[in-house]
Amino acid sequence: MSAVLDSLKFLSQGFRNGNTVGAVWPSSRSLCEAMVRPVIGGAQGPLRVLEVGAGVGPVTAELTQRLLPGDHLDVVELNATFCTTLNARFAGATPVTPIIHNADILKFDPGFRYHHIVSGLPLANFPAELSEAIYARFFELLEPGGTLIMFHHILGREVIRMFGPPKDRKRARQLMELEERLAPLVVGRHDVLLNMPPARVLVRRRPTGPGYDET
Ligand SMILES: C[S@@+](CC[C@H](N)C(=O)[O-])C[C@H]1O[C@@H](n2cnc3c(N)ncnc32)[C@H](O)[C@@H]1O
Repeated sequence: MSAVLDSLKFLSQGFRNGNTVGAVWPSSRSLCEAMVRPVIGGAQGPLRVLEVGAGVGPVTAELTQRLLPGDHLDVVELNATFCTTLNARFAGATPVTPIIHNADILKFDPGFRYHHIVSGLPLANFPAELSEAIYARFFELLEPGGTLIMFHHILGREVIRMFGPPKDRKRARQLMELEERLAPLVVGRHDVLLNMPPARVLVRRRPTGPGYDET
């Protein structure tokens, strides 16, 4: 029942804040599992994980259940209504209780870096300069060798680029060009058809070489 209420809350915020929320229904279980799979299994020792843009928390739920005691999970969510829901939903969650930050990712500074960043930010809705700034911030916040796990709706960018109004077409083209420049960083790709609409998960790894490892 509470899952239905959370989904309705997401729907309502999606209609009110379309540009920042970027969807009207939370991600499916299959998509959440695909987003979290690269985080678990493999890494040694306690993990530092950041989730950005949690909405009502379907990916957060998967993370809190799949991470191990001793791992650290920060969640950064811009929307105050969603943060109230997240705080109520995940208070005392085990094995890992997330720390919810009601903040803009561009202004969030934890003072350390993460092994993994998981994000559902709707970049296709954002001006190109904002997407560029967000990618730069993600890579600043990642340990060298850390992974950035994101999803987007399959064909969403192409449809906007071909059929959207001129302003949106330009924005979609710029985002696709930006992501093309990041293509060498892609180390994993997984299409999830059981989502509304179908989605593609991309895993990018922050290189350890010059330009990414400056501090
Ligand atoms: C498409 S929803 C994803 C929700 C959830 N992860 C899911 O998969 O169902 C995007 C979320 O990003 C949040 N958001 C947008 N811009 C943000 C920013 N600059 N910093 C942090 N969160 C942001 C929105 O409020 C929204 O909850």
